[in-house]
Amino acid sequence: MNYFNYQDDKLFCEEVSVPKIAREVGTPFYLYSHRTLLHHFRVFDTAFAEVPHIVCFAVKANSNTAILRIFVREGGGVDLVSGGELYRALKAGADPGKIVYSGVGKREDEIDFALKIGILMFNVESDQELETINARAEILGIRAGIGLRVNPDVDPETHPHISTGLKKNKFGINIEASLMAYRRAATLKNLDIKGVSCHIGSQVTKLSPFIDALGRLKELLLRLRGEGIAIRYLDLGGGLGITYNQETPPRPSEYARAIIDASRNMACTFIFEPGRVIAGNAGILVTRVLYTKGNEGKRFVVVDAGMNDLLRPSLYGSFHRIQPVIRQEREEMIADVVGPICESADFLARGRKMSVFEPGELMAVMSAGAYGFSMSSNYNSRPRIPEIMVRDDRWYVIRKRESCEDLIRGEEIPEFMNI
Ligand code: LLP
Repeated sequence: MNYFNYQDDKLFCEEVSVPKIAREVGTPFYLYSHRTLLHHFRVFDTAFAEVPHIVCFAVKANSNTAILRIFVREGGGVDLVSGGELYRALKAGADPGKIVYSGVGKREDEIDFALKIGILMFNVESDQELETINARAEILGIRAGIGLRVNPDVDPETHPHISTGLKKNKFGINIEASLMAYRRAATLKNLDIKGVSCHIGSQVTKLSPFIDALGRLKELLLRLRGEGIAIRYLDLGGGLGITYNQETPPRPSEYARAIIDASRNMACTFIFEPGRVIAGNAGILVTRVLYTKGNEGKRFVVVDAGMNDLLRPSLYGSFHRIQPVIRQEREEMIADVVGPICESADFLARGRKMSVFEPGELMAVMSAGAYGFSMSSNYNSRPRIPEIMVRDDRWYVIRKRESCEDLIRGEEIPEFMNI
């Protein structure tokens, strides 16, 4: 369910027409629907209403502070993976008591920052990290809330680049070894063991991998409790998939039902770290066609957005629906939608059947609200594009288009090169 719809063959975001925004801000730009973001968050949150839980939005999916603020205002927490994300979350007003910090490579300065803020827990990913957090907490005279991120070794059956819960992946502590790690953690004075966590992968479109992982975590939790290690939080990570094309992932209500049913009598607070399912279909990328051309029977539509703006198709071969912003009777063609970047991998769609586009026309690249802007870069010295949020019949620039000045901010030419 989202609020990008055609009215009289013109694409609207809620009550604002997309061409109108394009006229005022230029192209390309990211466009988010506030109503969709709020709706997705509420659907997910209410699906778990019958059990104690915290929905910690995965900041990496979309880290704009205005967007984070939406979830904070709804009582949500955040899942983060860097000091930079912690900074953003605090700017957005996040409650430290609802912040979980994952990631295999937390630096000492990042750990200190989170300790001083008093986050709910670190999801610890190695034995060495456990020792480091304990040592930093001791120096600061603080007790660190921790959980171990265990690797349950289940196959999420998703794209290999975004699968994380298999033994061959770098994430988490092998579930068998985690018992030893918990025993060790229990001896460390500056750690407060709070939870167990896992995250098996992203864009998961079946329930079974989640339920398998939960089963393994449950065994571990009961075993730990048997040893007097009181686990109060069960963090099941994110990962629920969305429809980009033909996928039929479980609805949040089905996901919640299955998890609640499989976790009876566990007596703990659940933490979820959804990213894509909240933001993915709440945002689009709007771009303009610059040129069309053909080489030996192949057709190319050259647009003004490139892989630096939306990396997913180039990196994972991801599918994003391509739609004209103004619909009209047109012929169909098979073409590649490519950007201005000097790389052959710079495409938004490949060999795609779509309607014929003319130069100057606006194109909508759908389902770009998660891992879109947050993975964008300045490659080819392209200023990063603005982010716009619509709420009802008004729109707001929630991130300005970068300027050329922004591109070289921080750069310095050493004095010896003076001319
Ligand atoms: N929690 C942890 C520890 C994670 O590593 C992730 C995503 C999430 C939560 C959120 O997962 P989600 O609910 O969004 O599936 N750039 C890739 C996705 C990478 C996901 C990394 N971790 C993409 O564009 O598909």
